[in-house]
Amino acid sequence: MSIDPKILELRLKREQARMGGGSKRVDQQHAKGKLTARERIELLLDEGSFQELGMFVGSRQNAFSAEGESYLGDGVITGFGTIEGRLVYAYSQDFTVMGGSLGEAHAEKIVRVMDMAMKNGAPVIGLNDSGGARIQEGVVSLGGYADIFLQNTLASGLIPQISAVMGPCAGGAVYSPALTDFIVMVKDTSYMFVTGPDVVKTVTHEDVTFEQLGGAIVHNEKSGVAHFAADSEEHGVQVIRKLLSYLPQNNMEEPPLVRPNDDALRADPLLDEIIPDSPNKPYDMKDIIQRVVDDGSFLEVQELYAQNIIVGFARLNGRAVGIVAQQPMVLAGVLDINSSTKGARFVRFCDCFNIPLITFEDVPGFMPGVGQEHGGIIRNGAKLLYAYCEATVPKITVITRKAYGGAYDVMNSRHIRGDLNYAWPSAEIAVMGPEGAVNILYRDEIARAADPDALRQKLIQEYREHFANPYIAASRGYVDDVIEPHQTRAKLIAGLEMLQNKRDTNPPKKHGNIPL
Ligand code: HXC
Repeated sequence: MSIDPKILELRLKREQARMGGGSKRVDQQHAKGKLTARERIELLLDEGSFQELGMFVGSRQNAFSAEGESYLGDGVITGFGTIEGRLVYAYSQDFTVMGGSLGEAHAEKIVRVMDMAMKNGAPVIGLNDSGGARIQEGVVSLGGYADIFLQNTLASGLIPQISAVMGPCAGGAVYSPALTDFIVMVKDTSYMFVTGPDVVKTVTHEDVTFEQLGGAIVHNEKSGVAHFAADSEEHGVQVIRKLLSYLPQNNMEEPPLVRPNDDALRADPLLDEIIPDSPNKPYDMKDIIQRVVDDGSFLEVQELYAQNIIVGFARLNGRAVGIVAQQPMVLAGVLDINSSTKGARFVRFCDCFNIPLITFEDVPGFMPGVGQEHGGIIRNGAKLLYAYCEATVPKITVITRKAYGGAYDVMNSRHIRGDLNYAWPSAEIAVMGPEGAVNILYRDEIARAADPDALRQKLIQEYREHFANPYIAASRGYVDDVIEPHQTRAKLIAGLEMLQNKRDTNPPKKHGNIPL
């Protein structure tokens, strides 16, 4: 039976669109160790679920267009599909078509899926691989970027937005991923920068490669721009799929409940021995997190950045939670500029999307130093404080060891609407640590003493016995209970169940003025 010529025409056009920039450019893409835009979409979404939109949208012609250089789809593949059966919208820039550069039609297609995602309340995932604004289309491309930035901003807090950077992302183009909630970068094949190595060389005379300036490791370790460093594109896509499993579809929904894979009452006796005898000895807070949450459910976010604070998602009895915790292994878990901003952004994300917050606290205070003060530890520390204060999701704290000074207040204390505040018997809750306190309170006595060191040690010991414990805070009701460490999991699960219908609000206002 012969095929209707109109259907044949449609099939041919589809085939043409699927070719992207042609087989030679597809080969070049593969030779760089990169997948094509379509291959990425296929990997990202549930098999066979992708519904493409705008496949026949053509490039807008202009004075610089070469003959026949109108590609179907205009260098970006857009549409919707599912991940683990849940609706998502996605776009994937096609580097084989004019370097994935963004022209007018390309931008309109992205804006359209974002608009649909907002109206229908589902996450949007952007796979970026682009030479930036399409030079031939000039200011129209800049306008297109601005339209996307506006959509990103309007969608912020409404639907989860996730960006993967799988190739170049340069110039103003970086600000679209930067406005989204999470950025996944692929090691060795992706880079982000506002100005590239050539401009850097001209302006600041620094010699730097693409990778050194804006590769995945740089943005995960140093700048804090990115949240995940994937080993490969396949890995990056897996990270996105896993990340979404903790998130609700939009700000009006709860995160999905997963059938628990772990006993709610599981008590881990090793937790009772995890805190070292000496308060100055570190221990690995990740060990505590792993032992408390549902088996294998912890997904760390920004693992390589500001490692003195740990943030990530996990589950407790199948319920998604956001974890914020000090890491005593790095800078003794002190709060500094970078850890404060890292924590603040994560707390605000969880609050946007109804994800309860669990805080594991062991904080000696804020980081002293000229660099920190001049860098704005006041302004930046205030971000974390602000974020915790304004958060209305269920908030539970477990103080494992130190909770000193202003950092005690900041880390979801009872005073800033912590719903349940627990302490382990090893907790030390006071204005400052014994050494600092004794040096201030007894400066003169110590100076006059025949053996100043002996006196100092005696006073430190006395201070520790009187103040460095959880019972003064508990007697005030600042701590709801002092719990044995092995009970932590059961306590948190019972607390989350109790808080599952929590309703709390902030005073009506346009928006607050977080100290940016
Ligand atoms: C039009 C572009 C393009 C662009 C790349 N191409 N970038 N076409 N506009 N911005 C085309 C190339 O001409 C080439 O076409 C194809 O894409 C692949 O590019 P190559 O250079 O061969 O690839 P590669 O060697 O991998 O280098 C990739 C690159 C480089 C580093 C991204 O192409 C590059 O530097 N491009 C320009 C980047 C840039 O300056 N963009 C503007 C940034 S400012 P053929 O036909 O040969 O395959 C910006 C402002 C945003 O984006 C503003 C928002 C506010």
